[in-house]
Amino acid sequence: MADSQKADSIDNTSPRQKMYKIKINEEKEIEVEGGKSLLSTLRRQKIFIPTACGGKAKCGLCKLKVLEGAGPVLASEEPLLNDKEKQSNVRLSCQVKVEKDLKIIIPPELFAVKEYSCKCVEITDLNYDIKQLRFELPAGGQLDYTPGQYMHLFVPVYEKSSQPTVRAYSISSDPSDKNHIEFIMRLAPDGISTTYCFKYLKVGDNIRLGGPYGQFKLSDTNTPIVFIAGGSGISAIKCMLHNLKNTGSKRKAVLYLGANKVKDLCGLKLMSQFEKELADFKFIPAVASPDEGENWNGKTGLITQVVREDLKNAAESEAYLCGSPGMIDASVKVLKEMGTKEENIFYDKFE
Ligand SMILES: Cc1cc2nc3c(=O)[nH]c(=O)nc-3n(C[C@H](O)[C@H](O)[C@H](O)COP(=O)(O)OP(=O)(O)OC[C@H]3O[C@@H](n4cnc5c(N)ncnc54)[C@H](O)[C@@H]3O)c2cc1C
Ligand code: FES
Repeated sequence: MADSQKADSIDNTSPRQKMYKIKINEEKEIEVEGGKSLLSTLRRQKIFIPTACGGKAKCGLCKLKVLEGAGPVLASEEPLLNDKEKQSNVRLSCQVKVEKDLKIIIPPELFAVKEYSCKCVEITDLNYDIKQLRFELPAGGQLDYTPGQYMHLFVPVYEKSSQPTVRAYSISSDPSDKNHIEFIMRLAPDGISTTYCFKYLKVGDNIRLGGPYGQFKLSDTNTPIVFIAGGSGISAIKCMLHNLKNTGSKRKAVLYLGANKVKDLCGLKLMSQFEKELADFKFIPAVASPDEGENWNGKTGLITQVVREDLKNAAESEAYLCGSPGMIDASVKVLKEMGTKEENIFYDKFE
């Protein structure tokens, strides 16, 4: 068998697939083999489109404009595309199959995305179900990213998963250390990626990371900041706080960190340290329902109640939210009721 056919069979692509042309941003044209999704076809060309669900039409991160050649919107795409997106030819690149010549638009920043084989150099327990993972880029490698962005983590095949899996994780590291990447990860019971990282990944192992991705970032203004996070949602905010410190920012900021029980909280020491180091930063952890006997002297109640009672300048603030979709939706509602302008509310949902 010829080498090219061997490679194709590893990728499950028939050697008889037709070739098609993809015109990108009205500039560049590439020739590709048909039959696979646009997402994986571009990946083979080293153009890395974001995904958090690995191509299962669940996350919506893989949206691209496909101007020609995609055919009608599929039923699998409908739930994730609104009318405006459909009118402007936005499609889920994981669902569009390459079976005609295509014309597509790719946001220019995605051409800067790269994949790296990184060594796991530290795994730290932050509480019983949240860990901090630290990875080193290959020698001489540097990652330039904006605090708030996230990376793809590629989980290899292991006994709990029959195929490679990709998941998104916000970068939590100090952005001044460009040779390392840290994540703060919460264990999802029986989740493919987190089970791998919690139970199988060891210090010294190599893992593939790709990125950076995402538009979640602090504005370049002096407007007061309200951060709201739950659980591992503290990750992107930690990175932003490092950056405020590194740049000597005097910006007023408050972080409301929500947890169900005291044992669910993490990062308390580090956040208290930021309180000392930043010019005008207040940290307010809150526990929804502490168990009897849990030693808790801080705020009690849902994070939304605590924000409602505590926050005085909602109308003049920008809000940055990170965590589960439920927590974010509830917080957005409360902030809007308190007068924060919709255009000043930014979030990253861990869907
Ligand atoms: C932009 C972005 C940034 C993110 N950043 C972070 C971060 O910083 N930290 C972090 O911890 N997470 C983050 N996430 C979430 C992360 O990407 C993963 O979704 C999360 O870690 C779970 O992945 P998993 O593979 O372990 O679980 P999955 O395998 O995806 O499963 C998730 C849960 O669903 C259950 N499940 C799976 N399939 C089924 C089924 N068919 N029926 C019923 N239940 C099912 C599993 O048991 C598990 O509990 C982020 C997500 C996004 C989109
Ligand atoms: S990759 Fe998740 S919807 Fe397409």
